[in-house]
Amino acid sequence: MQSLTDIRKDFPLFEQHPELAYLDSAATSQKPKAVLEAIHHYYLNENANIHRGIYDLSMQATQAYESARKKVADFINAAESREIVFTKGSTDGINLVANSYLAPQLEAGDVVLISAMEHHANLVPWQQLCHAKGAHLEVIPLNERGEIVWRDFVERLSPKVKMLAFVHVSNSLGTINPAQEMIEEASKRGIPTLLDAAQSVAHYPLDVQALGCDFLVFSGHKVFGPTGIGILFGRAERLEEMKPYQSGGGMIRRVQYQETSFAPIPQRFEAGTPHVAGAIGLGAALDYVQSLDRVAVLKQLDALKDYATEVLNGIDGLQIIGQAKAKSGILSFVMELAHPHDIATILNEAKVAVRAGHHCTQPLLEGLGLPGTARASLSIYNQHSDIDQLKEGLQTVKQIFG
Ligand code: ALA
Repeated sequence: MQSLTDIRKDFPLFEQHPELAYLDSAATSQKPKAVLEAIHHYYLNENANIHRGIYDLSMQATQAYESARKKVADFINAAESREIVFTKGSTDGINLVANSYLAPQLEAGDVVLISAMEHHANLVPWQQLCHAKGAHLEVIPLNERGEIVWRDFVERLSPKVKMLAFVHVSNSLGTINPAQEMIEEASKRGIPTLLDAAQSVAHYPLDVQALGCDFLVFSGHKVFGPTGIGILFGRAERLEEMKPYQSGGGMIRRVQYQETSFAPIPQRFEAGTPHVAGAIGLGAALDYVQSLDRVAVLKQLDALKDYATEVLNGIDGLQIIGQAKAKSGILSFVMELAHPHDIATILNEAKVAVRAGHHCTQPLLEGLGLPGTARASLSIYNQHSDIDQLKEGLQTVKQIFG
């Protein structure tokens, strides 16, 4: 079985920063050597624009880009590669669905349903669309542990709901939502669904056919791939009915001065020269993840989360925010006397990287009456010593503020 210590050796950044306890993978993951090499190899050997050239190099680049699309499709078990649109990231994918799918059909009085734990990326695009259309953004509340209560969810699934958009794993509470069951309940009522898988893609298996969602988004940089690339999965029949909301080169069939017909999906939604190197890097990242024994790795990660939880619970005056029964390795916390930014600043001195603030979930934190939290988030390259370093750093926080 691969230990987390072995996995760490695949990530060259830790050779440059041997003393760093990197506990901010919910913000962005580190990159394995295989991803860096794939990008380097592309620029060194295959760089050309895609879908445009009939010379060998361009065709090679096109093939590498399309093969990355196939890797994404396989990774999330999409029925066809054309159900994968390359985007800039999760935010870009959600904006695409809001503008291309929902905007043309949303009417005054309709409802878009989200949960109270959404990242701003899965809130603001819907909110702005609701404002423009006179529709209502309805929010499923959470219980004191930071979970969606089934009854509160089901009773909001009215015929007025034209989209259910929710997060698989909360970036600020760590809650794992019962995605498949929630999607099934919405689908039974004919409500389209979008799953934000930004925080789940690195650690949990995703199967869009089993999930039954209409749309799913994730960002490459959260799954050990490059920044600036992500994907939107859309069921083919949904994507087929959508008009592009960004237009230009690469997404047309025929252009005349007064009329344009559009390319088939997914090219229709990829205007301009895409992030070819990013897509190839993402493909390499997914290959890397597939090369791991994912079940074993997740088990070790869960054990590390339990250890971190025990350590944090053992610190007087510290409170973990988000106590869901199903929880990932995202541990938000507050401390008496010390502001989250002070905690993060002192931890930085101890070479511990955590995020502090509202984590792009301002309404959630305001609802909890908190200015923010400090957040330690774990990934496959973390080890027990990272948590011990966090503990020492937090003891310093206590000495300074206690
Ligand atoms: N969404 C990222 C985070 O939670 C940036 O930190």
